[in-house]
Order: sequence, then structure tokens, then C-alpha cells
Amino acid sequence: MIVTEFRIKEHPILAVEAKGAVPFTWKGRAFEAVAGETIASALFAGGVRVFGHHPKDGAAQGMFCANGQCAQCLVLADGSPVKSCMELVRPGMKVEPVDALPELPKLGEAPRMKDIEEIAVQVLIVGGGPAGLSAAVELGKRGIETLLIDDKHRLGGKLVLQTHRFFGSQDTVYAGTRGIDIATKLEAEVRSFPSVRIRLQSAALAVFSDQKVGVLVEGRRYVLVRPEVLLVASGAREKNLAFAGNTLPGVYGAGAFQTLVNRDLVRPTEKLFIVGGGNVGLIAGYHALQAGIAVVGLVEAMPECGGYKVHKDKLARFGVPIWTRHTVVSANGRESVESVTIARVNERFEPQPGTERSFGCDTVLIAVGLDPVNEFFLKAREFGLPAFAAGDAEEITEASAAIFSGKIKGLEIARHLGRDAGDIAPDWYRTAEILKSKPGKTVPETYPADETGVHPVLHCVQEIPCDPCTTSCPRGLIKIDSDDIRDLPVFDCDPAGQGCSGCEKCVTICPGLAVTLVDYRKDAERPTVTIPYEFLKEGIRPGDRVCVMDTEAAPLGEVEVVQVKLIKANDRTVLVKVRAPRAVAKKIAGIRVQEKEASLPLESWVRRMEDDTIICRCERVTAGEIRALIREGSRDISEIKAVTRACMGSCGAKTCTPLIRRLFREEGVPDSEVVDQLMRPLFMEVPFGVFAGADEEGT
Ligand code: FES
Ligand code: FES
Repeated sequence: MIVTEFRIKEHPILAVEAKGAVPFTWKGRAFEAVAGETIASALFAGGVRVFGHHPKDGAAQGMFCANGQCAQCLVLADGSPVKSCMELVRPGMKVEPVDALPELPKLGEAPRMKDIEEIAVQVLIVGGGPAGLSAAVELGKRGIETLLIDDKHRLGGKLVLQTHRFFGSQDTVYAGTRGIDIATKLEAEVRSFPSVRIRLQSAALAVFSDQKVGVLVEGRRYVLVRPEVLLVASGAREKNLAFAGNTLPGVYGAGAFQTLVNRDLVRPTEKLFIVGGGNVGLIAGYHALQAGIAVVGLVEAMPECGGYKVHKDKLARFGVPIWTRHTVVSANGRESVESVTIARVNERFEPQPGTERSFGCDTVLIAVGLDPVNEFFLKAREFGLPAFAAGDAEEITEASAAIFSGKIKGLEIARHLGRDAGDIAPDWYRTAEILKSKPGKTVPETYPADETGVHPVLHCVQEIPCDPCTTSCPRGLIKIDSDDIRDLPVFDCDPAGQGCSGCEKCVTICPGLAVTLVDYRKDAERPTVTIPYEFLKEGIRPGDRVCVMDTEAAPLGEVEVVQVKLIKANDRTVLVKVRAPRAVAKKIAGIRVQEKEASLPLESWVRRMEDDTIICRCERVTAGEIRALIREGSRDISEIKAVTRACMGSCGAKTCTPLIRRLFREEGVPDSEVVDQLMRPLFMEVPFGVFAGADEEGT
């Protein structure tokens, strides 16, 4: 029987489909995965959070990135070490922890070798996320022979993790549509072109000086691809953070959490804490609440969250405290996270003694930014292979910007290959820049003076690239008074013309849940307010009393729910109507869904005694060891590598190098004085035998 305790059984946005069971064993015990599930997700669904112990110090190991980048989730599957977040469970698979260094496979005889297959293509796209798929569409339309590879078992990249509607422009990047649905549309379009071939579970390993790209196809077959042009759309990897207990199982990246919850419908936690107030952290908090997971709080070291204000306001309105100018001091627990300690920071971002507080939680999400996965692009450029980068591999932006940048890169590649790409209008580049832009000016919120009839209230006070509310109004009453979608929308009702009909389309479509509708027509003293709500409809009923909040999460009191409406045209957004006093009606922006008790601190704060701020997770090298070398005069990361083994682990130094550079900065050493280590030519792991061309049995 499939273990269901840690699986999501109902979700307000995602369909929970019945899938076949796949039996496997973990440490000799019978487990069941669902068909097409990774080992890591199946283990989480079975309640397993600790995947093994490090051979150096016995520290418990768990998952961190769920994206094939960090190698923390290593397990033995039928005797071979694999990344459990990437490898699918096969029937009868025997999965074991890697509690010591894995043994080399025993060979009875010399392996049979074969020639490495070579494949010539016009375009090789590395990465089937928003940028890669959009580029493939443009190449497919022109019949350009394209091979698209992706290391996951599903196309869509980060899109398949996004249950929320997208920002941006409706004209260009499906704004107002949910990320998961954009992925489905793009995939269907790409698959309709015969000139585009797709290989899933296929990872690029290296770009070589002869301009060939080494690709591990489906984890078992090594081929060399000779593209005329390479498009790197390999996305981003999550940044790590140095703090005590930072490698405890239960500390993981926000993207990993979204993968478990939204892609695999696994419920990995009961109570989580978020570090980082960018869009990724804010959205992860929203996704957790949608999955019925308590969000204890969120800390952001800067004076303001870096993500969109609508995301921050929405999370705060739901009842999640957001502490700016705070940081994480430690994750606490022996084998996995049991609590988190936070503190206020000074202007140098140092935790201030005496301000510590601890909260009980089983998970700490790290959402402190992303780094581009651009090594293939840089190597291709170095070796003279015509190469383009798109999406996060080029620049970290929102997925809507990645969709558009992929489209432009697809057209630029077509032009490079001498195909008619039509006119890439100059204003497309401007649109691309607008979609990439960071949040702009915030203005104080004002409310409509008119308290008659029916009309929307736009609780949208920060300039961000977004326009679905303007296109949703059938009467064209919501406008942005310029050709720049970053400007704030206004409701502009011509008194002589038709007014708002109360159709609620703007309430439904706003990705920030920042539009409500106030209807004074039946009772001007107790108008009806329509509020968007993306939680289970069953969780709220007419007659309930709910706590309503203003835009910035100040409670406005309890009011009665008079209607709960879920119609197909609203695409899973529930509309909740409440009746509220005239004095607060237009200030209502949302409903609290999480009680204050979820965020109460522990009676006394927890001090973590272990000196285990880990910089190199793979080799378990602490910040203290590296700081000591820097203070002794080391300026070359290769030297640090030789002395401590930092950067020598299975992730290929992708996880620890940025943290080592940060330690240099903290020690007052400028970047210009630091010498980088020589990176390995292969950016991803591959069994030696497969790489050398041995037949499968010989690997
Ligand atoms: S958690 Fe699997 S590679 Fe990072
Ligand atoms: S964290 Fe992987 S090599 Fe350092």
C-alpha cells in the first residue's frame, strides 16, 4: 500500500490523481512510490528525512536542492550511488543510505568498450524550462533541427512548481495564467514540431574544446552532441547560507520544497520557517499554506523584502509574521531540524546579542537568491562554439521574463542560422527589460471616494511589470496610463458612461490577489466585499466569521461570510463575499487563514553549541577552518581546497565556492585578491565506465 500520511490528498489548485504503486525497499523495509516518482520524494512521502550519514563526521544527511545540483541526497540504488532527487524509483529497487564511501562496482572481466555515439544537430538546447521551451517553439516553427535535453523527468523547469498566476503582460507571456498551466501549453506546442527532439533525464556534462557537448542520456548512455549553435537555458541553482546547523536534514532550498509539494504532492513538513524575503521565499510561504502547512514566520536581513510587495502583503495577510532586519542564527536539532533561532541584525548584518528568539519547526527553507547555471555557456564561448544563454542562465529574473527572453533567443538563433526570423522588433528588447525589472516605487494606498454602486479597489501600490487587471475588464475601466506596464493601474470610471458591472473578472485574475470588489447597491451601510481566495473551498462556508485584514495585514475585525463561489471560469480562484461595515469595506484586502498560535516563540531561545557552520557540505568543511586559512594569508581557493578538501566534493564545488568567496569578503579581502580554483572539466557526475564508452553491463 502507498504510504499516504505524508502525501497531499487534496489541494486547492493541483489535481491529485491516482497513480500506480511502485514497490521498493529502503534499508530492507518495504516502501511504495507512486509511478514516475523520484527516490527522494518517495522517501519523504514515507516519512524519511535522513538519507544517510557523512563518512567524515557521521552528520545526518538529507536533501538540499532537489535539483541535481548539490549531491546531498546521495543514496545507493541497487548498489550504485545516485542522486535521489533525480533518480526515479524502479519496481523492486533496493535503496540504501550511503553511510560510508560507496564501493566501486566489482568487475568480473574487463568491460567491453564501444565507440561513443556522435549526434549532429543544428541547435542543442540545454534545459526545458520556460526559456528553453519558448526558444524551442520559435525554432520548431522554422523547422530547425533541434535537440532539447533536460535532466528532469518532466519538462517545464520551475514552471511546474508554480501554482500561482503569473505576472507580466498578457499579450506576451501568459500573465494571469498559472505557471503549471503555462508549462503544459508550452510543452504541447513544442511537441507539435517534428524538427524538435526531446530527451528527458538527460544531462549536459561538459563542453569540450572541439565544440562537442557531452550528454548523459537517461543516466546510462553517453553521447557527444555536435551542435551548430548551443542554447544554454539551464536555469539557476539556489544560493546557500552559512549558519550553525545549516546542513541539518530539514534545512533546504525553497525550490526543493516547491518540488516536493507542488510537483510531487508530498507533504514534507508540518511547520516551516523561511529565510529570505525575495519572491521565491514569499511564494514558497504561500504554496506551503495552500498545502495546509503552517508557516511559522519569515526573516529578511534587509530593511525591506526584495520580492514584490503584493506577494509580501498577501503572505502577511494570511497570518505569517515577516521580520525584516532579522537573520537566522541557527537551525537546532540532533538528526534533523527541531527549532530555529533568529535575531535582529545591525547595519553590518551582524546578529545582535539579546535579540534572539527561537521557534519550533521541522523545516527551515533557505530562499536567499539564485545563481545562474551558466558554466556551459561560458565554456562554449571560451571554445568558440556559437552559444546563447536565456532565462535564469543569462540573468536571474521572473519566469515570465524567462519566457520572453527564450522567445527572443530562439529568433536570434534562427537568424544566426540564416533563417527568416521575421523582424525582431526593437520594442521587444524593451519589453524584455521591463519584464526583468525589479520592483519600483511604492506609493501610499488611497481608497476610492465613491461609496455608491459597485467598483473594484486596487490594493496594488508598487510598480511591478503586470497588467492582467487591465485586460480583464470588459468595459476597459481599469487602465495603465502609459505604454509601460510597470505603472500602477487605476480604475477610471467615466461618470457619463457605463460603470462597473461587478463582473469580478479583475478580482479573479490579479496574480497578487490585490483586487477586491465593493458592492454598495443592496446595503450602503453594510456593503458586500468580494475577496479572492486560493485555498480549499471546503475550508470556508457562508455563515463563518472571518478576520479580515487591510493591505498591510492590519486586522479590521471579524465579519460574516455571505457567499463562497467557485466557478469554472475563475480557474480555481474561490471568490468569498463578506458583509462588512461601510467604514472598513474598501480597506479589506484579504482574510487571515493562519492563527497567531502558529507563530509563537519558544519560552527561551535555543543556543546551538556545535561549531557546525558548514561551508563545504560535500566534504564537511566548517567556516572556522576556512577563516583560519584566510587569516593566515591564503588568497587562492585552490590552496584552501588542497588543505581542507573544500570544493573537492561530488557537487563539483558548485555549492561551496560562492560561500568561500563570501567568507573572504567578510574577512575584509576584496574579490580582486582572491584566486579561483581550477574547475573540473565535467560539471556533472557520470560513472567512469559510461563516460569511457563501456557497455552498460561494464560500468
Ligand atoms: S538534493 Fe539532490 S542534488 Fe541536491
Ligand atoms: S559543497 Fe560540494 S564540493 Fe563543496
